[in-house]
Amino acid sequence: MGKHDSTFNGKCLMASEQRFYGRRKGRPLGTTLQRLLTETLPLFRLDPSISVAQQFAHDPADVFLEIGFGGGEHLAELALARSDAGFIGAEPYINGVAKMLRHIEEKGLRNIRLWDDDVRKILPRFSNECFAGAYIMFPDPWPKRRHASRRILSPSMMETLARLIRPQGMLMLASDDPTAKCWLLQAATSHPAFSWTARRPDDWRNRPAHIPKTRYMCKAHKEARTPCWFSFERIA
Ligand SMILES: C[S@@+](CC[C@H](N)C(=O)[O-])C[C@H]1O[C@@H](n2cnc3c(N)ncnc32)[C@H](O)[C@@H]1O
Repeated sequence: MGKHDSTFNGKCLMASEQRFYGRRKGRPLGTTLQRLLTETLPLFRLDPSISVAQQFAHDPADVFLEIGFGGGEHLAELALARSDAGFIGAEPYINGVAKMLRHIEEKGLRNIRLWDDDVRKILPRFSNECFAGAYIMFPDPWPKRRHASRRILSPSMMETLARLIRPQGMLMLASDDPTAKCWLLQAATSHPAFSWTARRPDDWRNRPAHIPKTRYMCKAHKEARTPCWFSFERIA
């Protein structure tokens, strides 16, 4: 089996053949969001034929990846705070992509490229150690054991992230779901290329300073779902 493959019912699957179980479409989009998808998305869509750094006009030293950016609030704030860096976001939910494009337009962002599909289709194209870090924020929890294979942070995803994140780079994971907190931690702590940076409980209980507060996080707090923040370093 190749490096980026996994199994399903005992069969070998290429990463690109793995099924995506989330939603691709939500409510019909209004004219502004529809226009953004038609006119703006082509300008910001990741070009799979060139390298990660070449995606951006400013040739950034640091490029970060966010897997499953949802409506893009977190990614947009990160990109605004680090205009020197580049950000690649993957999200197959087209309504989320349209909202991300609205953030891009409203904030005048130029350092974001979008992949509007399953991230697993594009990851094999990226070269080794091309990212300074990656974010997986509040992934779909898939709490049932029979749905465990749908969880985004599988052992093969950890293997891929170990290849893509450069030494001393970071992997940031967050969740407000009790089951997802466990499988995120289990997957990341069991990979030898990553070290959990937490030294005391406050390190995973408190939102790291560079992570922007989003509406989702506020809602989670209001509904007594406590987010945890797991920060890992890619060790050499
Ligand atoms: C629960 S939402 C969280 C969204 C966002 N990160 C947030 O904090 O609000 C999880 C997101 O991950 C996306 N997702 C799931 N599997 C994915 C995959 N294979 N590639 C890219 N995105 C994925 C889903 O479409 C969904 O929007």
